[in-house]
Amino acid sequence: MSAPRSRKMIMTKYGEDFADCTDIVDAEIGEPGEGEVLIRNVYAGVNGVYDLNMVRDAVSYISYTPPTDLGIEIVGRVEKLGSGVHDFAVGDNVATWKVGTGYRDYQIAETNRLYKVPAASPEILCLMPTGISGMVGIEQVGELKTKETVAISAAAGGLGHIIVQVAKKAGNHVIGLCGSEEKTRRLKGIGCDRVINYRTENVEDVLKAEYPNGIDIAYDSVGGSIFDAFVNSLAVKGRLVISGYTSEVGKPWEQVTSPRIYEKLYFRSASVRAFINPHFEEYHPEAAERLLDWHEKGEIEVFVDPVTFVGLEDVPAAVQHLVSGKNIGKVVVKLES
Ligand SMILES: NC(=O)c1ccc[n+]([C@@H]2O[C@H](COP(=O)([O-])OP(=O)(O)OC[C@H]3O[C@@H](n4cnc5c(N)ncnc54)[C@H](OP(=O)(O)O)[C@@H]3O)[C@@H](O)[C@H]2O)c1
Repeated sequence: MSAPRSRKMIMTKYGEDFADCTDIVDAEIGEPGEGEVLIRNVYAGVNGVYDLNMVRDAVSYISYTPPTDLGIEIVGRVEKLGSGVHDFAVGDNVATWKVGTGYRDYQIAETNRLYKVPAASPEILCLMPTGISGMVGIEQVGELKTKETVAISAAAGGLGHIIVQVAKKAGNHVIGLCGSEEKTRRLKGIGCDRVINYRTENVEDVLKAEYPNGIDIAYDSVGGSIFDAFVNSLAVKGRLVISGYTSEVGKPWEQVTSPRIYEKLYFRSASVRAFINPHFEEYHPEAAERLLDWHEKGEIEVFVDPVTFVGLEDVPAAVQHLVSGKNIGKVVVKLES
């Protein structure tokens, strides 16, 4: 069997509109080489914020020059083995992630970046790598402990709902932030002790009134006024983890004039740290193993957004859906029908 060609989504130019800056093309994919396999991508995870930042040339640490392949994580099925591959077989379900390999029907991958998974399902896709990011971010950078107070923004999102459950399982009091009644209900269902709907309650006022000793870990991927509320509410030795800033995407950076941040942190020995998944790869295998084990035992609930997106043509709509803030859980695109 000759290796198939693969349709893939590429960024054709920089711009503000994801759909306008992308195209779907057909390309020769070649044969898997030594230590590589050919994979049929079955579901792709949507990282709407990163996708938009790429086409806006706003990923500050790296510039992707068009034409560039798009998409990051997938779950899929091994279809062909290259030479020297003994640990994988045709038909194995796998998860893998790398910028430029997600929004395409097939990919060739080195086996050292593959995880064998029980199913090529949206739930597994949510755990790998989004769940891994959440687990490693809160445990390693947030220094997750027990019997502390932990606040999480975008708590009903793909990343957030996993962090809620990791923090709860460790025995903490967990506050989840979200923007709707439906998300509030879902967050209570996975054990949030307090849910703050930031559209109906003032986050900083609630934190000040109900948590006078402050927040030990604030895990933030929203930024803006939520970041400010978290900085102002940290406990003694509190840790604020910056894991993204969804609210700033697609806008000029908000210019803020205030005293330097040490004014807020010093007398509380509090700190602000940042986390980005690729810098913590050494923790990925153990986190993956633990999350898959919890999933198999039914000890973690995985939120997959119910809106269905099918095929590469639906990727722009899926990106738009995520950045509109309406999603509950991980947004996925089904690539194999
Ligand atoms: N550091 C890392 O390694 C890492 C890894 C994965 C993801 N991330 C980052 O984490 C964030 C969440 O990623 P995700 O893919 O899991 O997305 P997501 O949380 O599933 O979706 C984004 C959520 O952000 C919330 N949000 C709050 N303010 C918003 C605003 N002004 N505009 C749009 N949405 C707003 C929305 O929920 P509510 O309105 O209900 O809050 C929305 O559902 C992103 O910023 C992403 O870049 C970081």
